[in-house]
Amino acid sequence: MLGTDLVERLRRSGYEVTAVTRADLDITDVDATHAAVAGHQVVVNCAAWTAVDDAEAHESEAFETNAVGAAALARAARAHRARMVQISTDYVFDGNATEPYAEDAPLCPASAYGRTKAAGEWAVRAGCADHLVVRTAWLYGAHGACFPRTIARAAAERGSLDVVTDQVGQPTWTADVADLVVRLVDSVAPAGTYHATAGGRASWYDFARAVVGAAGMDPGIVHPTDSAAFSRPAPRPAFSVLGHDGLDAAGVAPIDDWSQRWDLAAGAVLG
Ligand SMILES: NC(=O)c1ccc[n+]([C@@H]2O[C@H](COP(=O)([O-])OP(=O)(O)OC[C@H]3O[C@@H](n4cnc5c(N)ncnc54)[C@H](OP(=O)(O)O)[C@@H]3O)[C@@H](O)[C@H]2O)c1
Repeated sequence: MLGTDLVERLRRSGYEVTAVTRADLDITDVDATHAAVAGHQVVVNCAAWTAVDDAEAHESEAFETNAVGAAALARAARAHRARMVQISTDYVFDGNATEPYAEDAPLCPASAYGRTKAAGEWAVRAGCADHLVVRTAWLYGAHGACFPRTIARAAAERGSLDVVTDQVGQPTWTADVADLVVRLVDSVAPAGTYHATAGGRASWYDFARAVVGAAGMDPGIVHPTDSAAFSRPAPRPAFSVLGHDGLDAAGVAPIDDWSQRWDLAAGAVLG
């Protein structure tokens, strides 16, 4: 989902891009990864095991991609003097905060997926000094399964939805993350950790109402509930709001407020 938008954004800016899917390159294959990185100035790793619930029962497989694969890419980037950009997640935090997470807040993942992504961050920091760890969250986009599409479909089919109010985050458009990654690279931002999420905050209930409205239905068909109503293998962070001080310090503009961005994105995402 993110990788497709990133490739489009880079090509629009005139970058020469080698876009590889899993069919072209398994990032856990050290030799293949080393060869694939040769000749490139920047490597952006959008590949990941992203099935959050499945990772609970398959943590070692998730670790292979999210940590071992990230480590292989980082070492290859260092060997070829490339800058390494690692996409990470709010799930590296436990979600118990009440104020936005700073870039240097201690990692404390509560799920297998979060542990493997946290390990990937550390592997990249250790493997390639010239790195950008770019955390994002609550992604939606035109090129993958995501919350707005699921909600719009379910609303049309069922006519009524229960959506949780007790998980709060920043709905973020993949096109905006792609744009921010390019701006970070273009600005030669100092190596370190950055947060690529939209501004403001919303619950899934708030976001579902915005989605249903954008799909031409009455937001009143969305009803509030809480996480106790849903039993899932992996715990969801209750509070996933990320702070943007690192972008401010680097002089890179953060993404605008989530609701403004959703108004712009809805047509492309809902189709
Ligand atoms: N989606 C979100 O809400 C969200 C939130 C926070 C952070 N993130 C992070 O953002 C990044 C992009 O997420 P996304 O939602 O765009 O992910 P996505 O649509 O699930 O894409 C991940 C891609 O990685 C590929 N992949 C998996 N294992 C691989 C391997 N060993 N070698 C090469 N490719 C492999 C997958 O291929 P297959 O389809 O063949 O498995 C898939 O094409 C990830 O780092 C994710 O952790 C996502």
